[in-house]
Amino acid sequence: MLGRMSARALVTGATAGIGNSFVRALAARGDDLVIVARDTARLEALATDLRAAHGVEVDVVTADLTVPADVDRVAAVLADPDRPVDLLVNNAGASLAGWFGDTDIADEDRQLDLLVRAPMHLMDAALKAMGPRGRGAVVNVTSVAAFTPRGVYSAHKIWLTNLSLWTAWHHAASGVKVMALAPGFTRTEFHQRGEMDVSGVPRWMWLDADRLVADALRDLERGKALSVPSKRYKVLTFLAKHAPSSLVARAAKRGR
Ligand SMILES: NC(=O)c1ccc[n+]([C@@H]2O[C@H](COP(=O)([O-])OP(=O)(O)OC[C@H]3O[C@@H](n4cnc5c(N)ncnc54)[C@H](OP(=O)(O)O)[C@@H]3O)[C@@H](O)[C@H]2O)c1
Repeated sequence: MLGRMSARALVTGATAGIGNSFVRALAARGDDLVIVARDTARLEALATDLRAAHGVEVDVVTADLTVPADVDRVAAVLADPDRPVDLLVNNAGASLAGWFGDTDIADEDRQLDLLVRAPMHLMDAALKAMGPRGRGAVVNVTSVAAFTPRGVYSAHKIWLTNLSLWTAWHHAASGVKVMALAPGFTRTEFHQRGEMDVSGVPRWMWLDADRLVADALRDLERGKALSVPSKRYKVLTFLAKHAPSSLVARAAKRGR
């Protein structure tokens, strides 16, 4: 068990992409799981797979994280002292087609709820449950887009990155680890669902979700507050932090 970060993990957005890679990696190391997304049939099929493949316990929570009452139900799972959650992965996300200023403001509100409000509430519930136990971890999936001025999505991601970095430092003494995970372009359902044209993104910029998650879990064990998987994106992130913002905005225009 030495080096193991968790025994029961709650992952939002578990049915596809990066969240799916997280639950598969965690189940493979023997963690019980709580899996969260909107599509119940897909969640149940995933739970059946994980139980059969790894013999772990899997609880399914259908929740739309743009709906406050649904977020409260997930927060209640994190707060339950009888069935403690040791690792929260705030991963669920989506992108909105169109640029701020052209999009419907009600859609922007839902994006804010999904990418900022929901992870904030769930992290709050996790810290309050884990702190008194003196152990636990939170991974907030942000994006390298956080380091570029790129509309509302990147603003949400820098918000979550910034809060994660502070929380990691402030709560370190409580024994709870917090890490922002900032992926670059990763092959998932994300771009198709968001109707994004990523045909111009060169092949070398694409990451594999399983590899990314393996790197992230290693960074979490090492106690990093920020994980930027792959050497390519470490270099790009360094450049983005130091180059003039107008240049970075132009270079980053193509994707999220
Ligand atoms: N792929 C990339 O290139 C990339 C790069 C940087 C950061 N990210 C970030 O990585 C995270 C995961 O993205 P991904 O690429 O893995 O996306 P994905 O393949 O589209 O998967 C998104 C997951 O989130 C769930 N979800 C979406 N909206 C939801 C809602 N309102 N309530 C609850 N669950 C919801 C989806 O399930 P349901 O539809 O069933 O709800 C699905 O399980 C996101 O936070 C994203 O911003 C992705």
